[in-house]
Amino acid sequence: MSRSRLFPKLFIVALISHSYSSEENNGIFQSDIGDQMTIGLSDTGYKSVQLKCGSNSMLVALETDEDFDGVIYTRGNFHDKTSACFLDPGPQRGQRSFSIKFPLDQCNTKKKGETYSNTLVLQHDKELIMPGDAAFHLECDYSKPRDVTVNANLHNEKSVTSRITLTDADPSFKKNKRDKRSTIENKTDSVVLTQEFLRGRMSPNI
Ligand SMILES: *[C@@H]1O[C@H](CO)[C@@H](O)[C@H](O)[C@H]1NC(C)=O
Repeated sequence: MSRSRLFPKLFIVALISHSYSSEENNGIFQSDIGDQMTIGLSDTGYKSVQLKCGSNSMLVALETDEDFDGVIYTRGNFHDKTSACFLDPGPQRGQRSFSIKFPLDQCNTKKKGETYSNTLVLQHDKELIMPGDAAFHLECDYSKPRDVTVNANLHNEKSVTSRITLTDADPSFKKNKRDKRSTIENKTDSVVLTQEFLRGRMSPNI
């Protein structure tokens, strides 16, 4: 068993134990799921994801294709329930559009040169990450094109590239070769990834 497949199982089992610790038959449930589970890239459960790269924040607007009763959070902030990094839309029914905005200097946002990146997880169950959940790697690249002179506003719309890559909701996911096909980018501060776009580009058996 590879290292990368071991961790998600432990993670899932830990979450399951956490939510079901007071119930019986606990062991059976854990092993049933633990032996079969992979998360994989998911082309269901969402309709579109828009990233808007602000001067000091990322704003993400998501639309789901069905009523959504889960949680949305930046990877690593699942336990951070009340921060800007975690959105629990609450008990209302019938909601399908959501937005979350987090500062570039919070929520485990990574900075490399002038590129900021983070991963947003769309988790359909409030406690468990499951197959069918999706994650989106978000990038805002504020590096100026070479022909723009020094004084241009660093976060001017024209100097930003925004990018979304569908990724694996599995917390130990490592980049794989599907990345390019599952990426959409725009040389503006805003980009939209749709389910249709991905379905057209990725093989049917993802
Ligand atoms: C790219 O940005 C422009 C301007 O904001 C927008 O009209 C267009 O829809 C964007 N394209 C994508 C693929 O998001």
